[in-house]
Amino acid sequence: MNVIAKELNALISQANPHIMEMLSDMGKALFFPKGILSQSAEAKAKAHKINATIGIAKQGGSVMNLPAVTRYVSGIEPAEYLPYAPSFGLPGLREKWKKDLFEKNPSLKGTHISLPVVTSGITHGVSVFSDMWIDPGDVIILPDMMWGNYNMTFTVRNRAKIVHFRAYDEALTRFDLDDFESVIRAQAKNNDKIITVLNFPHNPSGYSLNRKEADRVANILLDIAQSGTHVVAACDDAYFGLFFDEETSKESLFAKLAGRHERLVAIKLDGATKEDYVWGLRVGFITYGMAADPADMDDLHQALEKKTAGCIRGNISNASHLGQTILLKAMADPAYHAQKQEKFSLLKQRATRIKGVLADPAYRSGFDVYPFNSGYFMCIRLKDVDAEQLRLHLLDRYGVGLIAIGDRNIRVAFSCLEETDVKTLFDIIMQGITDLRST
Ligand SMILES: Cc1ncc(COP(=O)(O)O)c(C=O)c1O
Repeated sequence: MNVIAKELNALISQANPHIMEMLSDMGKALFFPKGILSQSAEAKAKAHKINATIGIAKQGGSVMNLPAVTRYVSGIEPAEYLPYAPSFGLPGLREKWKKDLFEKNPSLKGTHISLPVVTSGITHGVSVFSDMWIDPGDVIILPDMMWGNYNMTFTVRNRAKIVHFRAYDEALTRFDLDDFESVIRAQAKNNDKIITVLNFPHNPSGYSLNRKEADRVANILLDIAQSGTHVVAACDDAYFGLFFDEETSKESLFAKLAGRHERLVAIKLDGATKEDYVWGLRVGFITYGMAADPADMDDLHQALEKKTAGCIRGNISNASHLGQTILLKAMADPAYHAQKQEKFSLLKQRATRIKGVLADPAYRSGFDVYPFNSGYFMCIRLKDVDAEQLRLHLLDRYGVGLIAIGDRNIRVAFSCLEETDVKTLFDIIMQGITDLRST
């Protein structure tokens, strides 16, 4: 093992030896190299006469550039987006995202959390999480309705074994935390380490836990950790903030898990993608919340941040500098919060309109509605027609595009559905069901 990795591991073991046991083999071996990057950083600070270290091109003291490129970016200097960003992410953006995490999750107050490390979107954050904490054959507990890409990352790339709990009870009255609890407790009996991803607002159903449910999830995981099993809990907060109901818990589960127990690692995976409507900018974050003696906390955080940045360095090297600069500037804009609020209200109105339209009993013969109260999506469960057949039929006959999930579920992205089209959409779905029934 590389000597720097050994040094980082020693710091982690000193702060909390359970964390060393929870890291994957790759996580244990990861380190941030002291090669070109750190020599360049030293030169940046001290080489005032000539700095011939960095892997970019310069001309006349400025970043070399093609006007054919830079003419498309106004309001940002080439030096702010053309050179590489650090593998850790822009320091100012990391600090700002961390500060905002405390504002968005007031109950984090007083909890030590790491500085967020920037990823190339949340998918990349999920993948880095998987590399660092999951070994082939490890069990990861996920709902049976889930973002499909988890399968690619956890199973195909990292060869984990997904064990599902039932996301909803048969009557679709609630997120099935009874099944979550029984599956996770059964797995905790058979494994030294359990891994789960908590994704609320949920893709595809659009559900977020209420306060009581959120407390229950946190208490189950805490109890498992207290009983001697290691718990690695990632919170995929891709749709964070889009909570439309009064009783919904408005904070990340991360705030309830971070720093709670030595055997529990909480990892927040979030980003600007959906929160700030910048899907293509590719800016995500990984943040750690762990328990350790306060005196060791900085060492522990820095060691994990370095391993995370090492994982990024060996994969994509660093995330888009342009994306990070735009986000950092946007977050400092005095109009930023008001603009976000305006878009939030728009999405909430659409969700409310869907609920209003679907209150009409006329739809009940065709489908049931999964509980939803947040995010971008909602789902329906078809009574008796095949989801893929209906999807194709709606596309071919009516020019309506929806996502089929499994045999019975259809996902509607109200994030891209105008309020005025809501009734039309569900009427067409009903018509499609009637068409298929009569064939
Ligand atoms: C639950 C969930 N996590 C992560 C992502 C990925 O986000 P990003 O586009 O930032 O990679 C998505 C996007 O669809 C998602 O639904």
